[in-house]
Amino acid sequence: MEREVIARCRSLAACTEEPGYITRTFLSEPMHAVHTILQAWMEQAGMSVWVDAAGNLRGRYAAREADAPCFYIGSHLDTVPHGGAFDGLLGVVMGIALLDLLAGRRLQFHVEVVGFSEEEGVRFGIPFIGSRAFIGDPVCDPRVDAAIRAFGLDPSRIGDARASDNVLGYLEFHIEQGPVLEERGLPVTVVQAIAGQSRSEVLFRGQSNHAGTTPMHLRRDALAGMAEWIGAVEREAGATPGLVATVGRIGVEPGATNVIPGTARASLDVRHAADSARKPAVERLLECGGQIAARRGLGFSCSWQLDQPAVAMDPGLSQMLECAIAAAGYPVHRMMSGAGHDAMIVARRMPAAMLFLRSPGGISHHPDEAVLEGDVTAALSVAIEFLEQLEAHLA
Ligand code: GLV
Ligand code: MN
Ligand code: MN
Repeated sequence: MEREVIARCRSLAACTEEPGYITRTFLSEPMHAVHTILQAWMEQAGMSVWVDAAGNLRGRYAAREADAPCFYIGSHLDTVPHGGAFDGLLGVVMGIALLDLLAGRRLQFHVEVVGFSEEEGVRFGIPFIGSRAFIGDPVCDPRVDAAIRAFGLDPSRIGDARASDNVLGYLEFHIEQGPVLEERGLPVTVVQAIAGQSRSEVLFRGQSNHAGTTPMHLRRDALAGMAEWIGAVEREAGATPGLVATVGRIGVEPGATNVIPGTARASLDVRHAADSARKPAVERLLECGGQIAARRGLGFSCSWQLDQPAVAMDPGLSQMLECAIAAAGYPVHRMMSGAGHDAMIVARRMPAAMLFLRSPGGISHHPDEAVLEGDVTAALSVAIEFLEQLEAHLA
């Protein structure tokens, strides 16, 4: 089964917007193919399948009784540009594999596997579009509605994407995306909390002019100002314990060799386990941008895209997961997640827990992303133990 899980994730890597890379953004064309293939696997596992109006793929493995509560297992189906085969997708494929392992045995609760349509925030700069609809707090943006319509869905039905009220909780399997488990020689861990994140776009506005005729002291070069600020962002984050700050995308206009840049835009992503450290750090970084701009005669502004607080995972479900890890014969370990996950949104509506699988080389958001067969075996054994405990808990 573990071999099958890995092969399935790798085979879906072919559903991409860019041949030769894995790039699959919110409701892009290749998402249709991903849905079709996952739907077939879900049906083989005995699930009934539908796509909600947010583009989330939903597969339900019915309980013995129709009015039973529901337990959700999910993760996302979109990727970053030039991403890997396992970030997100593994959690969905693992959910299906788990139900395959039940071999038709029905439980006291429904199990629904959810493939969220969007988590990364790549297409519109807005992350968590899928899980936000799932918790009944859909993103309101005309671009999102247009993308939903273009995918053949009806955005006015987005309310139907909301999860059931008769719910036991949510579990997300995900690769760690970092080096901790590898360093400790552990296959899996329980996630105790997910770090908060701030995302924004900053704009430096100067004056574009001729690169050959404008003396250096008379320039208002937006990109040179932004470059100075990016250096300051790196220094500030390095000087604040636990803080990570990234400028991952920049854009310059008009963008020609012989023209001084008139405007420069940059994304800013700032994270910390403690919101009390993250928020003042973001303020310092933006204040610093304003000071650099003022000294250089540039305009400076910032538009917010995300201010997501740190989220603790549910203590009850996490403890059940720890017992399941011990029962499956693996060492119990807990850690913080620096990456964002659908679980941090879902936790607003229901108890949510996460299980990380070791990331070989600590590599993620990269084509070399991988997972070890033995770690998938471990995670599946833990998941089976977990379902048994949930059954026993309900009995
Ligand atoms: C999701 O991958 C994130 O940016 O943390
Ligand atoms: Mn990711
Ligand atoms: Mn992910």
